[in-house]
Amino acid sequence: MAAPGMLSRVTENQVPAFDLIGKRYDESFVERDTQIAEVDWLIAQLPQGARVLDLGCGSGLPTARQLLDAGMVVVGVDESRVMLDLAEEQAPAATTASATSATCPAWASSTPPSPSSPC
Ligand SMILES: C[S@@+](CC[C@H](N)C(=O)[O-])C[C@H]1O[C@@H](n2cnc3c(N)ncnc32)[C@H](O)[C@@H]1O
Repeated sequence: MAAPGMLSRVTENQVPAFDLIGKRYDESFVERDTQIAEVDWLIAQLPQGARVLDLGCGSGLPTARQLLDAGMVVVGVDESRVMLDLAEEQAPAATTASATSATCPAWASSTPPSPSSPC
């Protein structure tokens, strides 16, 4: 998850950086204890079965998967097709959408998107 201001803009014809990083992202970042603890905290604040928009869901690990395992309904949005393919493999119960912060209105909205219309 990430706040809109923290994410980079992709200019036309630019390959999203994470398309190049792909699977190496999960292999490089294995120490996720703090992130996992923060998502545990978030899960404790949410009602069972809450709908969560995971902006910049990446490969789906660990966050989308953690939310799904806790019974949340997850919509994962990412600009990198390569990362979304990994998310679809590693967090298959999430609904995914390929979009950038610039093309996904839900990114700037306080209204959560629905799995049938993620962006
Ligand atoms: C740090 S990784 C994903 C981390 C993942 N959420 C987790 O569970 O650890 C950040 C992801 O944000 C995506 N991203 C960065 N800027 C973006 C933007 N402006 N629009 C859409 N996706 C973006 C990247 O493609 C990348 O897959």
